[in-house]
This record gives sequence, C-alpha cells and structure tokens, in this order.
Amino acid sequence: MKKTAICDRLGIEYPIVQAPMAWITPAEFAAAVSNAGGLGTIGPMAGIKGPREAGDADVVGERLREQIRKARSLTSKPFSANVPVGRGGRAPISDRMVDVIIEEKPPVVIVVMGSPALYTKRLKAAGIFVMHAVGSVKHAQFAEAQGVDAVICEGYEGGGHLGGEELTTFVMTPQVADAVKIPVVAGGGIGDARGLVAALALGASAAYVGTRFMATIECPVHPNMKQAILDAIDTSTIAFGRKTGLSRCLKNEYTREHVALEAGGSSFEEMREYERSGTPSLQGRRRVPAALIDGNVVHGSAAMGAVAGLVKEVVSVADLIQSMVKGADEILKRLA
Ligand SMILES: Cc1cc2nc3c(=O)[nH]c(=O)nc-3n(C[C@H](O)[C@H](O)[C@H](O)COP(=O)(O)O)c2cc1C
Repeated sequence: MKKTAICDRLGIEYPIVQAPMAWITPAEFAAAVSNAGGLGTIGPMAGIKGPREAGDADVVGERLREQIRKARSLTSKPFSANVPVGRGGRAPISDRMVDVIIEEKPPVVIVVMGSPALYTKRLKAAGIFVMHAVGSVKHAQFAEAQGVDAVICEGYEGGGHLGGEELTTFVMTPQVADAVKIPVVAGGGIGDARGLVAALALGASAAYVGTRFMATIECPVHPNMKQAILDAIDTSTIAFGRKTGLSRCLKNEYTREHVALEAGGSSFEEMREYERSGTPSLQGRRRVPAALIDGNVVHGSAAMGAVAGLVKEVVSVADLIQSMVKGADEILKRLA
C-alpha cells in the first residue's frame, strides 16, 4: 500500500494509528502494533493497579515513564503516548503526564479531551510530534493555529468518550480536511480494509482504530469483552450520557439504568454519583476497569464502537494490519 504524508512524517509503514484505550493498551500492546507497521499508542492507566493509584499524579507519571521506557525496549519503531487533558482535580495528573513525556520524549503524543492551547508549545519544543483529537472544524482550526502537527477527527460512531457535537466520521473528516493544511487522521467506525480506504478517500492521511484492536490476541482486555465484540450486531452499542459527558458502550444494565435515570430528570451530581457508585457485583471497582479488566460486561462501562458489529474473529495484531492493507490494495485496484 502506498505511504501517505503522515507515514513519511512519522516513519511508519502503514497509515494505521492504534487509538489509545485506557487500561488495555500498555507498552507491550503498543509495541506489537508498531512492530507490525502501524503506530502503536500507550493508553492512560497502563500499568496502574487501582483507583487509588489512578488518582495520584506522581504514581500515574512514574507508571507512564516505565511504560514509555518499556515500549522503547520492545520496538525500534515510532510509538505514541496518550494524554487525556484533566479538568479541575484531575488537571495535576495530565500536567504530570506531560512533564514525564517531555522528559522521556516518545516520538508522538496524542492529546485528547481538552484545549490544544495547554500543552502543544512545550511538547513541540521537546521535538515531539503532536496529534490532537478534535470534534469539529472550528476545533481543528484552533488546534492548527496552536501549532499541532496533525488533528484526529473522532467521529460519533467510535467507542469511549465522544465529542459533544455528535458529528460522524463520514461528515467531519472531509470538512476538516478542507479546512486545515496539516494532516488529518480519521477514526470512529473503522474496522477493516473498507474503512481504511474510506478514511483515505475522505481526505485523511491515516485511520485511527480502537475497537477493532480490542479483538486481537495481544490485547489484554478481558476475554468477556472480546466475546461481547464478537457477539455484537449493528445495534449493540449506544451513545449515552449527554449530561455528564457522551460516550459509546455496549448496551447493558449499566447503560439501561443510566439512560432511565437521565430521562427521569436526575441532576448532573446524581448522574455522577450513579456512574461512580457501582453495584455489589462490581466489588468496589469503578465502571470502566470493571468491564475492561474484570470482564463485567453487564454492570460495567463496556466501551466499544458501533463497528463492533463488523468484527467476527479475534486475530493477531500483525494479521489484522496485513488484512487491512492488503484488502485496501485490492479495493483500490477494483475501483480503478
Ligand atoms: C475501551 C475503550 C477505551 C478508550 N479509552 C480511551 C482513552 O483512554 N483515551 C482516548 O483518547 N480515547 C479512548 N478511547 C477512544 C479511542 O481512542 C478512539 O477514539 C475510538 O476507539 C475510535 O473509534 P472505534 O472504537 O470505532 O475504532 C477508548 C475507546 C475504547 C473502545
């Protein structure tokens, strides 16, 4: 497959960026993706043992340092680290992550859920390639003006947290590609060769893939999650939580109760309390690790994208990447 502009800029073989997924994309996984020719990404919470550690900026920072060093020991290829920008009480955590990233200098950083005005200049000054996730044309133009090297369009189809504007990958990507000069990466709903070709056709330089990478042999997500992805059909996921922050997950008891509470007029604080409180079956675990690590796909927050319905088998990371790029070549030949 032909290299795109971002392949040359990043020094990767194929235009596939593995999207960060909290808890389940540690250094070993990111290195496997990079060794297979894509860009692997270390997710937040990699190496973190529980909620107490997750709330401690110094622990999060030092775990991230270990993860970056481990990835470097496992691959000579470029890889990336993810910083979700923290607000309020969580701001010191992302501040600390950025300090560590500037010290350790992974080749690429993916910053999400916050303003590109916060960290871009310092990260760029350290020689790191900065990608910033955006949810609209205006946000992408602002990120470009702040000096980011590439923007990531995260569409409404995707798994995990979603942009408040609810724009789909299909409509956001070409509009952003027309509006900025820097490379665009497109994600949300990409799970096979057809999605990869579509992303490139829409004006992206690379595809950003999360959910499909969960159903790989190397991904350390709980087997119940992999099975839930294999069992999923087109209508198995739901975007919910407009009051507290939109995200897309497997429809289950948690999302059913969440939607009912919100529809019943629960306040922001009540919704937050519900999200954090859990049920006896979670045994004190927060909703996200309960699903991703413990495999509670009934009461946990089982983040996955609508593309789950397309996933029919668990394969190795290398086989997945090869099937996407070879399949893309065949599609392009057929279309030509
Ligand atoms: C289980 C899961 C966890 C996620 N955690 C994060 C995260 O920690 N940081 C982040 O920037 N995005 C996170 N995301 C969003 C992904 O990085 C990406 O935007 C999304 O998976 C792309 O859509 P797709 O799932 O259709 O491929 C997560 C997504 C999933 C499915």
